[in-house]
Amino acid sequence: MADEAYYPGLEGVIAGETALSTIEDGLRYRGYSIEDLAREAQFPEVAYLLLYGELPTSEELADFQSILSESADLPGPVVDLLANLPVHAGAMDILRTGISACGHFDPQADEHDRQANINKAVRLLGQIPMLIAARYRTTRGLPPVTPTGELSFAANLLQLITGRQPDATAERAMDVSLTLYAEHEFNASTFTARVVTSTGSDLYSAVTAAVGALKGPLHGGANERVMAVLEEVATPDNAEGWVRRALSSKRRIMGFGHRVYKTGDPRADILRSYCRELAERRGDTDLEEIADTIERVVRDEKGLPPNLDWPSARLYHYLGLEVELYTPLFVASRVVGWAAHVIEQSESNRLIRPRSRYTGPAPRNIVPLPERE
Ligand code: ACO
Repeated sequence: MADEAYYPGLEGVIAGETALSTIEDGLRYRGYSIEDLAREAQFPEVAYLLLYGELPTSEELADFQSILSESADLPGPVVDLLANLPVHAGAMDILRTGISACGHFDPQADEHDRQANINKAVRLLGQIPMLIAARYRTTRGLPPVTPTGELSFAANLLQLITGRQPDATAERAMDVSLTLYAEHEFNASTFTARVVTSTGSDLYSAVTAAVGALKGPLHGGANERVMAVLEEVATPDNAEGWVRRALSSKRRIMGFGHRVYKTGDPRADILRSYCRELAERRGDTDLEEIADTIERVVRDEKGLPPNLDWPSARLYHYLGLEVELYTPLFVASRVVGWAAHVIEQSESNRLIRPRSRYTGPAPRNIVPLPERE
């Protein structure tokens, strides 16, 4: 291994093949541009596309949505478990536990064929909004909201959490954010899911591990930290001074930079216009002014564009959602991408097991215990 290639963080390494998405020509899911999907499809159509390979017909979509609604029930012991976990536990930790616990009640948990994996993915897609909402409402002493089965996925998700049915603008904004978060080739959490799958393990294990990877602030956890930045800046007048000070003290600005998008994240451009619309509707565009100033300075000074987490934090804030929900909402969407990768990995599997470059001591002999100092 003397002349082996080594790329820290696997940067630039092609670590596998996928037919799910590409970033070669803008972001595309199975050939469709993210701009077209965000404009013309709803999130359940995108979920179907990722899981089944093609956009659904009206009939297929209706069937898919009714299976989704039927899957939304949580097993009673899982609800009890969530209610009994420590109040201070983070929402992502709770969601990771909840997803893992749901696996114990799935009769197909250990079946690995394509249809079983799709069934499990659809069940999780229905259950994750329930898990997020159950914990959120219980810890606030709020009664659970029973899904009616009549709302869209996005509207139902918002109603389960807030108890209120969103208007059409809010529903559309949430739906688009779900579409944009659904899939992104070999990102850290998806790669985690593929590594777990490559050992022959099951979909619940892969998704549980992926939630753990997504939680980190360099990945999905960034959307919660973005809100902390905006709150710290507080007013448009503070923005320029704040960001210049932050950059000169080498502070990492959450929501900026990306391992694979060096000139711009197309998802961020799409969501920005929804943020502006929601802010104008509220009659308060301060956060938009703050965000524009920070964007301008970070681009000028560091050449770094914002990533999807930058606008999504503002979007969720405008939808009246609390910060601790932001990364769990990423899970509510990305579970589709993870599951589709689990299916793809299992159908063309080779154990993922790279090598490391050794940096430890040279070979040495053990000193017997009594002689060690
Ligand atoms: N703020 C300030 N400087 C930054 C930022 C940032 N957000 N991101 C990168 N940089 C700087 C680095 O300090 C480094 O500068 P230097 O060359 O002067 O030392 C340079 O840009 C390259 O940075 P790397 O860390 O090498 O880039 P990498 O590809 O490893 O990191 C990452 C990508 C982790 C996303 C990084 O940009 C970051 O930490 N961003 C903030 C967290 C974030 O927003 N994550 C969400 C990612 S998108 C998603 O998960 C949906």
